[in-house]
Amino acid sequence: MSLNAVVDGLQKILRRVLGEDVELAASPAPDLGAVRADMGQLEQVLMNLAVNARDAMPTGGKLTIETANVEHDPDFARAQGAAAVRQFVMLAVTDTGVGMDEATKARIFEPFFTTKAPGKGTGLGLATVYGIVQQSGGFIWVYSEPGRGTTFKIYLPRVDAAAEGVAAAALAPVARGRETVLFAEDSAAVRAVGKQVLERQGYTVLEAPDGEVAVHLAQRHSGPIHLLLTDVVMPGMSGRQLADQLARTRPDTKVLYASGYTGDAVVRHGVLEDGTPYLQKPFTPESLARKVREVLDA
Ligand SMILES: Nc1ncnc2c1ncn2[C@@H]1O[C@H](COP(=O)(O)OP(=O)(O)OP(=O)(O)O)[C@@H](O)[C@H]1O
Ligand SMILES: [Mg+2]
Repeated sequence: MSLNAVVDGLQKILRRVLGEDVELAASPAPDLGAVRADMGQLEQVLMNLAVNARDAMPTGGKLTIETANVEHDPDFARAQGAAAVRQFVMLAVTDTGVGMDEATKARIFEPFFTTKAPGKGTGLGLATVYGIVQQSGGFIWVYSEPGRGTTFKIYLPRVDAAAEGVAAAALAPVARGRETVLFAEDSAAVRAVGKQVLERQGYTVLEAPDGEVAVHLAQRHSGPIHLLLTDVVMPGMSGRQLADQLARTRPDTKVLYASGYTGDAVVRHGVLEDGTPYLQKPFTPESLARKVREVLDA
């Protein structure tokens, strides 16, 4: 598949995530080579990097996304833990944000390492990125200085086959729906994106910034609520408490949890039981639409 397809497919959503004060510039290489990787995973990589960039630019700035064909010495590539090949495809994400000092840079890929306020960051974004890139035989290079912004360069081995089936993989239509979804999420940006995606899929969305409002909406809504889509960690009532409370009056409502934690971490920390429907954040339009349909049909 082509990394340009990933950049292209996410651009609209990225603009919303970044908000009005961050300019987005994409410069995709026209003759970009193909990589062998999972579309959904690469979307997750780009989303995680973009969300980090946004957080690093609280007063605005510029986010640049580039792709290019790049050659590396195979020995150098191997020393980076990547496949020992010469041809790579690069995805670079650059922000004009606060940057990082050496001590921070040394730890960014550690799971649960975060400099964000409690409840703001899980510290799993870059650990996830790292895992996905490793698994694809690639490597990551980070340039950053305090006050000077940050560039993440992701290198993935180029494969010779032309990028086939990109459109098919990216846009394989997810079945639409007409059900009503109650969506509880404290981040206004995530809520806006999620609502837009679900409405485009045909759903009716009741949105709430926290558990209390969600309970209130459910009480006042006269029709059925087919699905509760809720963030796990919210100020006030947790997603779990919300689901429990809703179940008393609406036992038929299905529940889908979303969290920045990986499913494993959520289970390990005892937040959710194994097997509970769960969506990894930041979600992509595709992963959200697919998971919602899957839970409704289960
Ligand atoms: N673009 C960036 N500019 C400055 N610092 C960054 C940037 N990207 C990552 N960091 C630093 O790396 C840390 C770890 O990032 P990571 O994405 O793994 O976790 P997080 O963003 O803190 O939380 P999460 O992604 O789980 O919400 C951040 O807390 C921040 O200190
Ligand atoms: Mg992050």
